[in-house]
Parts: sequence; C-alpha cells; structure tokens
Amino acid sequence: MQIVTTRDRLDLTGDAMAPLRAAWPTFALHDPVSIEYRDAFEACFPQYAVLLVDNDQVLANAAAVALRWNGSVATLPAGYDGAVVQSVTEHHAGIPADTLCIMSATVHPSHLGQGLAAMALTALRDRAAQAGLPRVIVPVRPTLKASYPLTPMADFLTWLRPDGLHLDPWIRTHQRLGATILAPAPRSMVVTGTVAEWEKWTAMAFPQTGPYVVPGALNLVHIDRTLDQGHYEETNLWMQHH
Ligand SMILES: CC(C)(COP(=O)(O)OP(=O)(O)OC[C@H]1O[C@@H](n2cnc3c(N)ncnc32)[C@H](O)[C@@H]1OP(=O)(O)O)[C@@H](O)C(=O)NCCC(=O)NCCS
Repeated sequence: MQIVTTRDRLDLTGDAMAPLRAAWPTFALHDPVSIEYRDAFEACFPQYAVLLVDNDQVLANAAAVALRWNGSVATLPAGYDGAVVQSVTEHHAGIPADTLCIMSATVHPSHLGQGLAAMALTALRDRAAQAGLPRVIVPVRPTLKASYPLTPMADFLTWLRPDGLHLDPWIRTHQRLGATILAPAPRSMVVTGTVAEWEKWTAMAFPQTGPYVVPGALNLVHIDRTLDQGHYEETNLWMQHH
C-alpha cells in the first residue's frame, strides 16, 4: 500500500473515489461552505490531501488545512466550516500557519475496522511535523452520534466505556493516537435547502413542519413547509492531537 497525495494520482479522482463519497450522508455533500471553498481548499493545501492506495484502488483518504490558532479553546475556529474559511483566507493573506486542522477521513466500506483511518491520520500528523506545525486539531464528526441526535454534544462527549475510552469508535481512534477532547463545535456544518432538496438528499418525506430524525445526521433537521426550507446545524467535537 502506498500513501500519496491526490495530485500524485489525478487518475484516481473519478470512479475510484465513488465508494468513499458514498460513505457520507448525501446532505453532508451539500454544505455550501465546502462547495464554495472546495477549489481554494484543494489549491491551498494539496500536500494535506492524502490517499492510501493499493494498486489502483483507493482504500482511504484524508484531508487537512493549515491555520493559525493560539491554543485557547475560546479561539478555536467555528467548526468545520469556520476552519475552511479561516485557513483559505489566512493562506491568501500570507499569514503563517501554526496548526494543522484535520478536516475529514474516509475509509473504503470494504476495508473498515482495519486501522486504515489511523494510518491516514498519522500520515497527516507526520506532514504537520515536517511542515513545522506544532499543533494538530480536528473537528471530529463522531460516527455513533447519529444514533443519538437528541443528545447534546456536551453530554455525548462524557459517555465513556469502563476502560476510560469513549463509547464512540471514531473518537476512540483519535484517543488511541493520543488525542484529547477540547470542546463541542456548534454550527460546525450548516446545510440549508428546500423541502424537496431535503426529501431527495434523505429519501424521506417531510409532510409537516417540525424537527426530524434523519439517518446519518448528528442533530435534528428542522423542516419549515411555510418557508419551504430544511435547516441543519451540525455540532462536531473539537479534539487535539499531542
Ligand atoms: C470513521 C471511519 C473513517 C473509521 O475508519 P476505520 O478505518 O474503520 O477506523 P478504525 O479501524 O480505527 O476503527 C474504528 C472503530 O470502529 C470499529 N468499526 C467500525 N466499522 C467497522 C466495521 N465495519 N468492521 C469492523 N469494525 C468496525 C472498529 O472496530 C474500531 O472500534 P474499536 O475501537 O472497538 O477497535 C470510517 O468508518 C468511515 O470512513 N466513515 C465514513 C466517513 C466518516 O464518517 N468519517 C469520519 C468523519 S471525518
């Protein structure tokens, strides 16, 4: 298996990535900040777009940005969206970064549970060290949280197993790499669409105005039929690698 960057293997951007894209809930691919900043994100931080490749199959990918952060919880970026905007804005302004912010990791569905995500995270941490970035943070999207959309993240983050590790497997993966929990990241990703768009993204019907539990969503989705709008604000969890 090789660890390369997306730019090293431009031949793998199409069909080879489809199974990894399919691992995400469709609505998450409609985050307007991600869409607006996608090209700039990729242009500014190509060294932090890593692929784990076996011959021509992409087994996992992970991406990160670099930004400036003073180490205080109070000045963390405004979640995933905030980190995208801050990193690109600072890069264009020539502000030197001191923090790697890991934005996502995805493993091919046929290779889950084999430690590949940890390998991808480690590859990014190594690149941070090579670039002289002393801090590494992550707005973690805990995979188990989708089963508890009614629970505030401030409560969820306290759910530990008897061995002291978190109940959530994705948080555990970060903890085993030495990461610690910092704080919830409210409004980390905000997605708004028409009711028809939300029905398409979720394969659900939303017959009346109100909050809905949606598969893959960490928080409730609020449907307003009068405004013809569905609104989703996702809370993530800031963690720091040491
Ligand atoms: C989250 C994700 C990256 C984890 O990848 P991974 O390589 O399976 O992670 P790990 O090998 O470290 O496994 C993490 C835990 O999940 C468990 N697990 C998850 N899915 C599993 C599966 N299908 N088979 C076996 N174990 C699985 C592992 O046993 C492990 O639990 P443990 O702590 O008891 O050992 C992967 O599930 C994924 O791509 N999800 C979709 C995208 C996403 O949500 N990314 C995270 C937000 S950025």
